[in-house]
Amino acid sequence: MKTTAFWSGIVLISLSAVALADTRNLSADGPPIFQAECGSCHIAFPPQLMAAEDWKRVMAKLDKHYGEDASVDERSRHELEQFLVRNAGSASTLGVATTQANALPRLTRTAWFLRKHRQVSPADWRHPKVRTPANCAACHRRAAEGRFHEREITMPDGRRWEDR
Ligand code: HEC
Ligand code: HEC
Repeated sequence: MKTTAFWSGIVLISLSAVALADTRNLSADGPPIFQAECGSCHIAFPPQLMAAEDWKRVMAKLDKHYGEDASVDERSRHELEQFLVRNAGSASTLGVATTQANALPRLTRTAWFLRKHRQVSPADWRHPKVRTPANCAACHRRAAEGRFHEREITMPDGRRWEDR
């Protein structure tokens, strides 16, 4: 049994490596308005972490954005959508990002995201400095630069992930 789990782990890792070449560095050359419009309330999320169809759904409802109004003028909206779609990840690698019908998609709910974070404990997710998985920078110190390397993770209680 153990051996099977081990090998299926290897298969999963190599599959995701094909579509998301290096998931430790997800910086994308976005237009300047990307940081300004999409990086003020939370980090400007890496486009690679959601599929094109999901980005389109987010961009179609900016006025009702997870309880906030994140609307921008139509020209900016179009430019941002083009950028996100062009750099989107593949749906088959990531898995669907939606939990309920009509709910906006969440990149923190894809099978890919959950797998990458399966070693994070419930206590760490609930920590007052984290509160929501969308708060990437609570653990990934350089998330805003698109950097997610293991060496750059500090858990909310201050321990460095690589020292675990
Ligand atoms: C006015 C503040 C605000 C702005 C501006 C904003 N967002 Fe958000 N966004 C939020 C909030 C609040 C959430 C929900 C966070 C949570 O549930 O933890 C969210 C969640 C998201 C999520 C889902 C994250 C998850 O949980 O997986 C995506 C994707 C997203 N935003 C993309 C964008 C994009 C793209 C832009 C720019 C067009 C943008 N946001 C601009 C406030 C904002
Ligand atoms: C509670 C802390 C925490 C939060 C919040 C968090 N992560 Fe992580 N993340 C981790 C840990 C721990 C790992 C696993 C590192 C390892 O062992 O490789 C990880 C792994 C990753 C990886 C894989 C890195 C690699 O080596 O391939 C990516 C990409 C990533 N996270 C992105 C995000 C994004 C984007 C967000 C926000 C939407 C986020 N994370 C939120 C703790 C967190």
